[in-house]
Amino acid sequence: MAVSPRDSAAVLAQAAVTVGPLIRSRVSGLPPEIRHVAGLHFGWWNDDGAALETAPAHKSVRPALTLLACQAVGGRAEAAAPAAVAVELVHNASLLHDDIIDHAPQRRGRPALWAAKGLPAAILAGDALFFTAVQTLADLPEASRTVPVLLACVQALIEGEYLDTLLEATADATEHQVLAVAAGKTGELLACACELGAAAHNAGPERAGHLRAFGHHLGIAFQRMDDVLGIWGDQAVTGKPALSDLRARKMTLPVATAMTGDTPSARELRALYRAQEPLTGEECLRAAELIEKTSAREATLERARQYTADALKHLDLAQPEPQAGAELTALAELLTARDR
Ligand code: FPP
Ligand code: MG
Repeated sequence: MAVSPRDSAAVLAQAAVTVGPLIRSRVSGLPPEIRHVAGLHFGWWNDDGAALETAPAHKSVRPALTLLACQAVGGRAEAAAPAAVAVELVHNASLLHDDIIDHAPQRRGRPALWAAKGLPAAILAGDALFFTAVQTLADLPEASRTVPVLLACVQALIEGEYLDTLLEATADATEHQVLAVAAGKTGELLACACELGAAAHNAGPERAGHLRAFGHHLGIAFQRMDDVLGIWGDQAVTGKPALSDLRARKMTLPVATAMTGDTPSARELRALYRAQEPLTGEECLRAAELIEKTSAREATLERARQYTADALKHLDLAQPEPQAGAELTALAELLTARDR
């Protein structure tokens, strides 16, 4: 019997229902103090340990990709649940460390863990989540195939993140360099999410490879949207302060594009980015104004569209089962036209 595809909101909600309890169960196995700060990061309880009545609903994008990739190759979503948990734990580990690196005071509309509880809490909670992710895969019979995929992904994340910090210190970056950062720090995790989903149903190398490539291209498109939201996004929906990427002098594609060339605007933007300190509120507004004067925003959105189109070509080549294929397509389109 043909089943009609679910809309993306239902797909994400179902992914959260599938992995949420498993993530909580994994975190509950951590020693008490680290468990406490990890739960603060997830928004499950407050600092007194009282459960939050409306624990925030996470978007579960990566788990949804893992579950759907498994279904795309003919498997059941549940078979990929541990892989989805591992990917989401790595994602959260990386965010804990990223917020420290970026000096970002907020995450998901709440104080970042390092800002609330200090650097040791955030560093160690990130480490704990990362090793819990590895343990989640290591506990399964197919561990010898899946753990290396996750570990290679984390090495790529680390390289991407480090390259990102190197670019921030340069005040001039090429589009190629900015794309390499996105490929490492975002593309690889989405690629890994899809690859592990396919592996949970023992997909052949060709199908798994195309699903991996789908995730990789989607991740780059997703990062380009993040670039746009980091400058022009609405704080109420992004959960991050307006202009936060500019304040932190992040080298995103709109910034790199607007800095290119020898125009007065490009020179002024480069000078602002050469400063050692985070930009002041006034400097952020000026930087946004300088970027607005160029076609950098449209150029970034166009790049996002191209990477989304390439992602969808790979999805097609993976010959997905119809329902999962339609749901992955809708999710890709949502993520690359998102306002949050
Ligand atoms: C967010 O980027 C950061 C990432 C997508 C990856 C961060 C990776 C690491 C810290 C290395 C991996 C570490 C572990 C422990 C697994 P962003 O700053 O552009 O996005 P944001 O605006 O959401 O912060
Ligand atoms: Mg960041």
